[in-house]
Amino acid sequence: GVIRQLSGIDEMERLLQEKLNIDKVVIVNGDSDTSPWVIDELGRAGAARMKSLLTGKNIIAVTGGTTMAAIGKMLPNVSELPNVEDILFVPARGGLGKGASYQANTVCEQMAEKMNARYRVLYVPDNLGEAAYNTLTSEPAIGEVLDLLKSSNIVLHGVGEAKAMAERRKVSFSELTELEENQAIGEAFGYYYDEDGNIIQKVRTIGLQLDDLPNVEHVITVAGGASKAKAIKAYIKMAPKKPTLITDEGAAIQLLKG
Ligand code: BG6
Repeated sequence: GVIRQLSGIDEMERLLQEKLNIDKVVIVNGDSDTSPWVIDELGRAGAARMKSLLTGKNIIAVTGGTTMAAIGKMLPNVSELPNVEDILFVPARGGLGKGASYQANTVCEQMAEKMNARYRVLYVPDNLGEAAYNTLTSEPAIGEVLDLLKSSNIVLHGVGEAKAMAERRKVSFSELTELEENQAIGEAFGYYYDEDGNIIQKVRTIGLQLDDLPNVEHVITVAGGASKAKAIKAYIKMAPKKPTLITDEGAAIQLLKG
């Protein structure tokens, strides 16, 4: 629209696509760090992007986080959507400890309810020991969800700052020290990585893994706020499948500077 042209957002999107070398960037006005309502705009844009990719037969994997929860919140009700008969939402991972309202399971359920679609749940804790991990992944109910995740054709996910996510997950002092020593900058799908996109630590979690992404048709990364700029940039370096990026002006300005 005219407003987007006048405010230079369209041009910023183009520049950022070039800079990050990805096909599609969508930027919403504002900075979600300083203006909390901007997260709803990220949610609206993320929802619009997802809807535009629906074929009527989709398996959509979603992570948790406040940004993903905003997509669920901003999704229109089903009456406005065509082709939702065969849509299935699957949580990309199990739990994160506290904060049930923005866990992947909750977000999935909310999206599915809005769209009158089906969903699955994955009730397993994060950060499992090896034995527990092996036992749980051989459970048929869990194996089924993992198979569905591997055949998903849309992945919607958030990106966090390493430190913020480590705190949210209440990681141990030794893990925190390791992240700091290795200059972890960002986190996505349970992987912590540095500025160059090197993986530093991985939470042993049941769910979608980075290695699964190349098989997914559309990966949509939704993250905004100036404070997440470095985490976003490094994620795109690391990502084995180039995503569509939905972000805000706050992050975009920093990304274009750096
Ligand atoms: C989590 C994802 O649920 O959301 C993480 O699993 C991501 O990979 C995080 O870092 C981002 O959270 P938020 O609240 O900043 O959107």
